[in-house]
Amino acid sequence: MKSAAKTFGILTSGGDCPGLNAAIRGVAKPAFSRYNMNVVGISNGFLGLIEGDARPLKASDVSGILTQGGTILGTSREKPFKDSSDMTVEDKLKEIQKNYEKLKLDCLVVLGGNGTHKTANSLWKAGMNVIGLPKTIDNDLYGTEVTFGFHSAVDIATGVIDRIHSTAQAHNRIMVVEIMGNKAGWLALYAGLAGGGDVILIPEIPYDIEQAAKQILVRAKHGKPFSIVVVAEGAISAEEASLSKKELKKKKSDAPASSVGYVVADQLQRLTGLETRVTIPGYQVRGGSPSPYDRILSTKFGTAAAEMLHAGEYGKMVALEGGRMVTRSLEEVAGKLKRVPAGHPLMDAARLIGTSFGTED
Ligand code: F6P
Repeated sequence: MKSAAKTFGILTSGGDCPGLNAAIRGVAKPAFSRYNMNVVGISNGFLGLIEGDARPLKASDVSGILTQGGTILGTSREKPFKDSSDMTVEDKLKEIQKNYEKLKLDCLVVLGGNGTHKTANSLWKAGMNVIGLPKTIDNDLYGTEVTFGFHSAVDIATGVIDRIHSTAQAHNRIMVVEIMGNKAGWLALYAGLAGGGDVILIPEIPYDIEQAAKQILVRAKHGKPFSIVVVAEGAISAEEASLSKKELKKKKSDAPASSVGYVVADQLQRLTGLETRVTIPGYQVRGGSPSPYDRILSTKFGTAAAEMLHAGEYGKMVALEGGRMVTRSLEEVAGKLKRVPAGHPLMDAARLIGTSFGTED
């Protein structure tokens, strides 16, 4: 039977992103003012749930945080369903269940990406009520068109590429910009397209460095002896893609600690004879204030979760479909990755304006 939550816990888990505080505010404001619920803030993701590190939140705790980056609750990459050096999964689950009861929670609201929703589903299956909110700058969470945090990161990464453009042109250089995105290339694709990248390399399309170099030389021949190459941190070459998972892991661990941006830059400099430089904005794209788009999206996701708490709709993740708020069962989204599909319209558009993905076409 569905029953409205009286008290719920809220936590943020995994890598942070802009919009977490806006989403916490979106859940908690209606919970306090409209539904008279108790809100328990759990510190540092699932670690706080295991350790019982939690505090009751007041309305004043969630006021004035809309524009703040990071998360007022703290976060961690703790995975409760993975043994750690000092604790087994069994012990962790026992502690979680104990704390869930001790804090008198009727539901747990988790803000996170792929790993978080996998855990959320396991906790739901273990008998706890859970609601998920989709966040990640990578936008690689299955079941939602967009995750909050993604568009803020696109804005920041595009700003970096814009700045790099003028210095690339002034020095006639190849500028390689490496952008976060380990398993999926959404961020590199969007920022690359928005920033006018001449070559975009993403994990979904294994690249041939000679094709990328060819594109750069063609540009040079047409009077543009500078190029912008946007590389997702998880981009791999066609040669690497032909290796088994184990072989690839070994190759990466044998190689000197150099990220893909440097590998690509070194090869392009040798193949084109053009001076090449690397920029890695790294964690800058995860920090700072959320964009207006993300403030609104986080508020929409958050308030939708508050309505679900009131309606007793558990075991679900809030999602965006066709611009509308919908829900997905945790079972449906758990453990699935949303990668850039072959033939995505943005890739077609990029190819039509002459952007290379390091392939023949
Ligand atoms: O949040 C996802 C992400 O930004 C990935 O693109 C990246 O690989 C990862 O986080 C790195 O984050 P951390 O160092 O915090 O684990």
